[in-house]
Amino acid sequence: MFDICDEVEPVPTMPLIGDMAPEFNAQTTNGPIHFPNDYAGKWIIFFSHPSDFTPVCTSEFIRFQELLSQFKEMNTDLVALSIGAIPSHLAWIHAISEMDGGANITFPIIADMDANIARAYGMIHDSASDTHAVRAVFIIDPRGIIRTILYYPAVLGRNFTEIMRIVVALQTADAFGVAIPADWVPGEHVLISAPQTTREMDRQQNTKARGVDSRAWFLSYKPLSSEAIYERLTKKNKGNKKQK
Ligand code: BEZ
Repeated sequence: MFDICDEVEPVPTMPLIGDMAPEFNAQTTNGPIHFPNDYAGKWIIFFSHPSDFTPVCTSEFIRFQELLSQFKEMNTDLVALSIGAIPSHLAWIHAISEMDGGANITFPIIADMDANIARAYGMIHDSASDTHAVRAVFIIDPRGIIRTILYYPAVLGRNFTEIMRIVVALQTADAFGVAIPADWVPGEHVLISAPQTTREMDRQQNTKARGVDSRAWFLSYKPLSSEAIYERLTKKNKGNKKQK
């Protein structure tokens, strides 16, 4: 507890949803990167892991690699970070490629030796560990804006179904101008964004549009097929790739 008159330690700032992703240069297992500029026009899943050669992190890396082609279909790249050196990262991914049920890790892993990047992104939670990052996930859009932040502790591996759902949901919300209800998966009804004027409120309440399920002036569901979503998103994403 603190008194309003007490001198309060300055709280380190970290980027939040809606902020531009902080820019940095780094060495990775795939060579140097300038982040997020090198990924302009793409979605990025930027994630930290506590340590190389540890069981939960290894299981996550194999899962990320298994899903990489699906993320790429969604115009989404993966960038990993840990507070370690390139030789350690390389030795670890080599070991992963040789183990039973392993994988050839092709996404870049940042060597954040001095922890400057992890600190700038709020990936170090000092009470958990002041030397290792937590499992942070930043989902960044093609303009470099942070759209989702997730944190998991060291002992708990991430839910990849949810990470994929977030990428599809955010892209669906952007492409169709809709909002996404609780526990949504593609194919289920989406939400018409809440009206901002009385005219919009009247229109939404009285709409007879096909399939619209209006339960209150502020809560209207409408159908959106998964075929329509994937057709629009993959076409849009192919268009993005052509522009590069
Ligand atoms: C793991 O990846 O298994 C792990 C890493 C750091 C602390 C605890 C577990």
